[in-house]
Amino acid sequence: MEGGKKIKVAVIGATGAVGQVFMWMLSDHPWFELAYATASASRIGLKYASTVHWVMPFEMPGKLKEIEMKEFNYQKMKEAGVKIVFSALPAAVASEAEPQLRANGFYVFSNAAAMRYDKDVPIMIPEANSEQLELIKQQGYPETGFIITNANCVTTGLAVAIAPLRKFGIKTVTINSYQSVSGAGYPGLSSFDITDNCIPFIKGEEEKIEKELKKILSINPDVYAYTVRVPVMFGHLETVWLEFESDVEPDDVIKAWDEFKLSEDLPSGAGKPVVYSSENTFPQPKYAFWGDPKGMVVYTGRLKKKNNKIGFVLLVNNIVKGAAGGSIENAETFVRSFGLV
Ligand SMILES: NC(=O)c1ccc[n+]([C@@H]2O[C@H](COP(=O)([O-])OP(=O)(O)OC[C@H]3O[C@@H](n4cnc5c(N)ncnc54)[C@H](OP(=O)(O)O)[C@@H]3O)[C@@H](O)[C@H]2O)c1
Repeated sequence: MEGGKKIKVAVIGATGAVGQVFMWMLSDHPWFELAYATASASRIGLKYASTVHWVMPFEMPGKLKEIEMKEFNYQKMKEAGVKIVFSALPAAVASEAEPQLRANGFYVFSNAAAMRYDKDVPIMIPEANSEQLELIKQQGYPETGFIITNANCVTTGLAVAIAPLRKFGIKTVTINSYQSVSGAGYPGLSSFDITDNCIPFIKGEEEKIEKELKKILSINPDVYAYTVRVPVMFGHLETVWLEFESDVEPDDVIKAWDEFKLSEDLPSGAGKPVVYSSENTFPQPKYAFWGDPKGMVVYTGRLKKKNNKIGFVLLVNNIVKGAAGGSIENAETFVRSFGLV
């Protein structure tokens, strides 16, 4: 909050799978006021409830229903007092729009892959690398706006679970994912292709895991990844094997997860970012919206050791912690670190 007032924010791409999570989480946020929502031009002037195909597994908050969809226009966003822009645009649209938003002075928190690999653009996960916030100065902040991205959804879960284990020295990461259909956006895949089926290829995903994990955690392990789309609505499950530099016992891993905390208390940050259970059928995608805040916890289970490797299963909510919730947490980290709250 600036001067006791909430900071005005916009959501661009407000009708997609990720955009809907932004709208839900921002409908009642203690620091941010949802002042502007846009999507494709065909929706301008329509009420949110009448134009969106709501895919969340709970009712739309009443406050969102009457919000009018606006034109995606920088000048009008400025006139509305918007400071922070949350982007849920497809990468091809974001690659043009986000640098222009930055040049127009907006603080952009993006889910798109378009800008993630630029040297001065952080891929931020507050649990893992909030020090990368400093990179915004290289983009020209405070004279200009800036762009902060969050990671690809499957990488986010992996990076959060691995962050407290970095201290053991990670030599190799083997990961197989079971990714939900909401990860492909709305309407996403054809039901004909995914019903009763699994698809063992998600374009560009395996490469993103390797590239982003290394940038986020500043580590350089060999990464072996397979990504599979499965007929599940929300939540990505991942099976992981880590090879360490030192001899690590399952109890060391449980202790590291147990003691792991965010350095700051943030409205959208989970008190315990990684929650482990020894229950042998845990975790499952049906728990994707568990936790406090909902969908922001990474769940782990099925921990085991073989030779010098530790294996486990994790669950991340791809559209909350793995997308919009992660972006909002990044924005909270920024306003807290730069004294705007
Ligand atoms: N889904 C996930 O789990 C996930 C996780 C992490 C990151 N991401 C990334 O987040 C971004 C959004 O993903 P999504 O799954 O929400 O996609 P989506 O369901 O396809 O939504 C895309 C949104 O962008 C809007 N849009 C498209 N073209 C536009 C244009 N030219 N001008 C203005 N608005 C436009 C769409 O509006 P209309 O509805 O009006 O067309 C819609 O609101 C993507 O970059 C994706 O890679 C997604």
